[in-house]
Amino acid sequence: MTTPDEFTISRRCLLKAGAATASVPALVTAAPAIAAPPRTAGDAALSPVTLNVNGKVHRLSLDTRTTLLDALREHLHLTGTKKGCDHGQCGACTVMLDGRRINSCLTLAVMHEGAKVTTIEGLGTPGKLHPMQAAFVKHDGYQCGYCTPGQICSAVGMLGEIAQGIPSHVTEDLGAKPPLSSVEFRERMSGNICRCGAYSNIVEAITEVAGVNA
Ligand code: FES
Ligand code: FES
Repeated sequence: MTTPDEFTISRRCLLKAGAATASVPALVTAAPAIAAPPRTAGDAALSPVTLNVNGKVHRLSLDTRTTLLDALREHLHLTGTKKGCDHGQCGACTVMLDGRRINSCLTLAVMHEGAKVTTIEGLGTPGKLHPMQAAFVKHDGYQCGYCTPGQICSAVGMLGEIAQGIPSHVTEDLGAKPPLSSVEFRERMSGNICRCGAYSNIVEAITEVAGVNA
């Protein structure tokens, strides 16, 4: 058990130790200051990037972490491209990038200097719809419409991939051009989710544009 004397000694030692360590901060502050790294606006690294979106050149200065989807929606105010999951799982953000469809939520805008981007706003106009847009209207290829811009961009890109002879997981003959069949369409469009379940009408619209009896 600690006696009152022992307690007094211990307390005295403790005060001495405290006095000794009290001089440390003075030594630290005497050391030369290390310069802080340079900061940019908003403490983010901004980078210039030029994108050709729907035929119009845009010079942007973006946080390097900005996705292509956010660059389109938040910086260029092209809100036709939708953000569904933001994780590459729904296809709502599909756009055409240099002629290929891509999930714009999964790629950074600064990775695509000089690229040509086509969004749903660039495919057609209300007075002159793209054939795929017109076919979606004709065949009721949507209900709420949230997935529709991504579905249409994806369908356009998908037909382009078949035309180039790019096979899918259901293509049986890898030595021949893939067939324009509903099996191919459904497989190749499987990355575009429609929560309203308009799938059969979407396939009908694509089939009409492809010009086949799928
Ligand atoms: Fe990009 Fe869902 S928002 S895949
Ligand atoms: Fe509603 Fe596809 S039309 S999610």
